Amino acid sequence: MPARRPLIAGNWKMHGLTREAQALAAELAKRARNQARPAFDMAVCPPFTAIAAVATAVAGTWLAVGGQDCHTAEKGAHTGDISAAMLADAGCAFVIVGHSERRIDHREKDALVKAKAGAAIKAGLVAIVCIGETARERDKGQTLDIVESQLAGSLPVAASATNAVVAYEPVWAIGSGRTPSAGEVQQVHAYVRALIAKRLGKAEAAAMRILYGGSVKADNADRLMRLPDVDGGLIGGASLKADDFWAIAEASV
Ligand code: PGA
Repeated sequence: MPARRPLIAGNWKMHGLTREAQALAAELAKRARNQARPAFDMAVCPPFTAIAAVATAVAGTWLAVGGQDCHTAEKGAHTGDISAAMLADAGCAFVIVGHSERRIDHREKDALVKAKAGAAIKAGLVAIVCIGETARERDKGQTLDIVESQLAGSLPVAASATNAVVAYEPVWAIGSGRTPSAGEVQQVHAYVRALIAKRLGKAEAAAMRILYGGSVKADNADRLMRLPDVDGGLIGGASLKADDFWAIAEASV
């Protein structure tokens, strides 16, 4: 077994008014308090407005909190944006950068994602750097090429196994109920790890966590989470239900 602790990160996206977010976080915190620390790490990434409430609800447990995006600058005239330092200040240990919904909705390119990840690391956060091909790219047989160019363009110079996590999320699998086969997921993850080894060396690559994301559910987690190069998941829809999210986490170890 690889010496990597799986990370199960919940991406709540634009879901959760304060009261709902608090209730879900409290439910997870109750579970975390009721059992000895399991062999996985768990983080929840609520919308910005619920971060403080969620951080309070999970305080004193081993559950971590993350943001869903951050700006490249520490502070400044950037109306509507949130810096990595602000996320850390609000109780975050993680931040997702380069999620495909941001790459699509906000036209974020690799260079921007890389700058955001660099800013996150500088602020002491662990950057969860998302990459993944579209359906069209997959159909054209370009999956590995896309993953390679996105990884090269999005992973900042400062990235290491302790301050960065890669999330492979095929765009066509997100929220669609469709997933690649276990063999396909393993192939991409092994490829990503080999790319990381070329760039950062074998030891860092062996320690770097590579998450799979895209329609991970309680009923397919066994198949997707136990692959040799899958070190946990970035979970969207299923992370909004404590039972499902917890079951996925338990399937990762
Ligand atoms: P999903 O989302 O689990 O709902 O497919 C995953 C993600 O977008 O991170």
